[in-house]
Amino acid sequence: MMSTMTFGWLAALITILMSVRTVQSQPAQVWNDQAYDTLKKAILREETLNTNTAKNVVFFVGSGMGLTTVVASRILRGQLDGMKGEETILAWENFSTMGMAKTYTTDRQVADGAGAATALFCGVKTKSGLVGVDDSAMLGDCKTGQAAAVDSVMISAEKAGKSTGFVTTARVTHATPSALYAHSPDRDWENDADIPQKEAAMGCTDIASQLITLGKNTKVILGGGRANMMPNTAADPEYPNQKGTRQDGRNLIDEWVSGKDPTTSEYVWKAEQFNAVDPKTTDYILGLFEPSHMQYSENGNNDGAGEPSIAQMVEKAIKILQKDGDGYFLMVEGGRIDHSHHDNNAYHALHDTVAMNEAVAKAIELTNENDTLVIVTADHSHTLSISGYPWRGNPILAKGFASGRLLMDDGLPYTTLAYAGGPGGIKERQSFEDTGMRRNLTNTDTEQPDFVQPALIPLATGSHGGEDVAIYANGPMSHLFHGVHEQNYIAHVVRYAARLGGNECGGNGAPSSGGFDLLLTLAGVMLCVAL
Ligand SMILES: *[C@@H]1O[C@H](CO)[C@@H](O)[C@H](O)[C@H]1NC(C)=O
Ligand SMILES: *[C@@H]1O[C@H](CO)[C@@H](O)[C@H](O)[C@H]1NC(C)=O
Ligand SMILES: *[C@@H]1O[C@H](CO)[C@@H](O)[C@H](O)[C@H]1NC(C)=O
Repeated sequence: MMSTMTFGWLAALITILMSVRTVQSQPAQVWNDQAYDTLKKAILREETLNTNTAKNVVFFVGSGMGLTTVVASRILRGQLDGMKGEETILAWENFSTMGMAKTYTTDRQVADGAGAATALFCGVKTKSGLVGVDDSAMLGDCKTGQAAAVDSVMISAEKAGKSTGFVTTARVTHATPSALYAHSPDRDWENDADIPQKEAAMGCTDIASQLITLGKNTKVILGGGRANMMPNTAADPEYPNQKGTRQDGRNLIDEWVSGKDPTTSEYVWKAEQFNAVDPKTTDYILGLFEPSHMQYSENGNNDGAGEPSIAQMVEKAIKILQKDGDGYFLMVEGGRIDHSHHDNNAYHALHDTVAMNEAVAKAIELTNENDTLVIVTADHSHTLSISGYPWRGNPILAKGFASGRLLMDDGLPYTTLAYAGGPGGIKERQSFEDTGMRRNLTNTDTEQPDFVQPALIPLATGSHGGEDVAIYANGPMSHLFHGVHEQNYIAHVVRYAARLGGNECGGNGAPSSGGFDLLLTLAGVMLCVAL
């Protein structure tokens, strides 16, 4: 015990000496100048509120991207550039305004991706597990689901004559994108084999088949998820020993292709084909780069056929969609931030957030804030925490420093990033059963890609976090995000900013008084007429 303590203090002393050696002083003037610039912008803000119409909307969702993920990824982004990291500004941290979103669903304190996506895109909160249906539907119950359909802002944008599309690094039939085009009382009904026969007999269809029916006017569909589109007799083009998952014999990729004009549409499944697509001559693109989810951003070019990055997909998507003079709606999901958090692997969660940062930067570069509303938010958080008192510039994935030392009260080191629950807890428990101690990470490289962060509660898969998530916005009407909002409010701002019709124009569940017409009249604009 004594020697551990001594070692702890010695190690701490070494760290202090090392950091004293490298710290450059940042005198008062540096901070005063920076704050003065920020204050000036804030004072001038009122005169410069952007009340234009949002001709275009680019809506980013970092799945599972809670505030701790944003902070840790900001630090990683800077450290990848050889900086200390904490001072880094992510692309969306330059946005003119922000608010907070309360993410709970109608039946759960902590949201799942399906209920959250329905709130974000369809403007109504619903139960966890449901996509594109309101709270009157019961999970897994076809009958109640059929009467409960609510349309998304993407469908409203199509009705308003805009071009639409979505990009995701998850399956295109996964919870977040599916709420854009599908109505399903169960997020897991991604292909026909997933639906219990009794429910299918009542007329409920799978999410993949709805993608090519309800989503038939969606011009850009990029992500993973080939298997749900292919029959279980067809071999995957990239991994020939894998088959599709459909039992109904349909090949939805072929159906999509045959339903489109071959001179202006492209189906692609690998980077090489994707790179060859000319956005000038392409109006419709279906890109499915993996049988299931796409690879993590750090692994994207390591697999056989290679995949485009999320930034490359966003660039292609915007260039295809912006040919439409009526404007466009594009949803972009950093879908695998969430998956890596479920594995308690902060490495890929952070790197995928950094990859989404490059995609947001690309979107800003290709759009004009005078006519394009850009939103960056999350569906829900995860239980990641950043703790201790690590030195400024300490590698974010490394071991930290707390209570004046590198070894904690049990004589073992800790990592700055840890989770409340997940597989990291199982590892701790296994170690506890062997040694009666937490995992001893002294000789472990915690910065390597597969490292599983410590967690308190043992769970095979980490759970989501329930705190509010941030909404960052820039462009027309972005100032309407201004406080602590219910998550479903975000879709209403999109409809208002882009003058889209939708539920407010008299559809299912229209507001009981006033409605959208009144709001637009208040703003001196008339709409809903043509819808
Ligand atoms: C943020 O805005 C500043 C000033 O306009 C610009 O110099 C900087 O490149 C922007 N940073 C990011 C990450 O977009
Ligand atoms: C936005 O519009 C204002 C006013 O018309 C104009 O001064 C400004 O240059 C425009 N900004 C961009 C980026 O086009
Ligand atoms: C942790 O591992 C290191 C390196 O093997 C060892 O020196 C140290 O004693 C271990 N700590 C505990 C508390 O077992």
